[in-house]
Amino acid sequence: MSESSGKTIRGRFITLEGGEGAGKSTQIGRLADWLAARGIPAETTREPGGAPGAEAIRTLIVNGSIDRWDAMAEALLMTAARRMHVEQRIRPALEAGRWIVCDRFSDSTMAYQGYAHGLGRQPVEQLQQIAIAGMKPDLTLILDMPVEAGLARASARGSQAPGSGEDRFERMGLDFHRRLREGFLDIARHEPERCVVIDATADIETVATAIRDAVATRLGLERS
Ligand code: TMP
Repeated sequence: MSESSGKTIRGRFITLEGGEGAGKSTQIGRLADWLAARGIPAETTREPGGAPGAEAIRTLIVNGSIDRWDAMAEALLMTAARRMHVEQRIRPALEAGRWIVCDRFSDSTMAYQGYAHGLGRQPVEQLQQIAIAGMKPDLTLILDMPVEAGLARASARGSQAPGSGEDRFERMGLDFHRRLREGFLDIARHEPERCVVIDATADIETVATAIRDAVATRLGLERS
């Protein structure tokens, strides 16, 4: 951590969350460009992944049959991947004063495994406590949209890149994805000071503007 006029400064940690097809990847690129134009060269990364071991775990989880892993096994694997990502990449960057913008983090384990897959809030919280000392982002942007529209977008994306696989969660059925959406909204209700829900049904530019406004307001940056 760096010191300036007696105050400890560290990098900021922003996460984007949401269901399938919410447009996170596009928006992360936009946000990183906007931050760079303000003299903040943020690093972008993703979960599960972002570090070599974590990317290897990703391959195990996002491909294959739906019942390959149960809710607890998924939560353990996601959290193991996160442990390495935090230790090797996120914490060193923040301690060096760099900003990180991450595509998904522990709110995804809470929403997917805790709410949608039925594990419950407490086991997910306990795992995050054990693995990463309950580390939380400074700001979490939850991209929200109706389940059917998100899944349609995600499957159109899949058909543009046939064979890319990575669709194990997309295949989990409408009820799973409805619980998932409600889970993310409930997380935002639990932690309104950290989370901002963004309407992701609007066009790319409108969503990008809403994200910039939230970042500027919550993290005290100039808007223009
Ligand atoms: P992505 O498609 O957004 O890259 O994420 C990969 C999949 O992994 C996505 O379907 C959500 C799922 N996931 C979980 O179920 N739990 C988690 O903790 C994370 C990070 C992702």
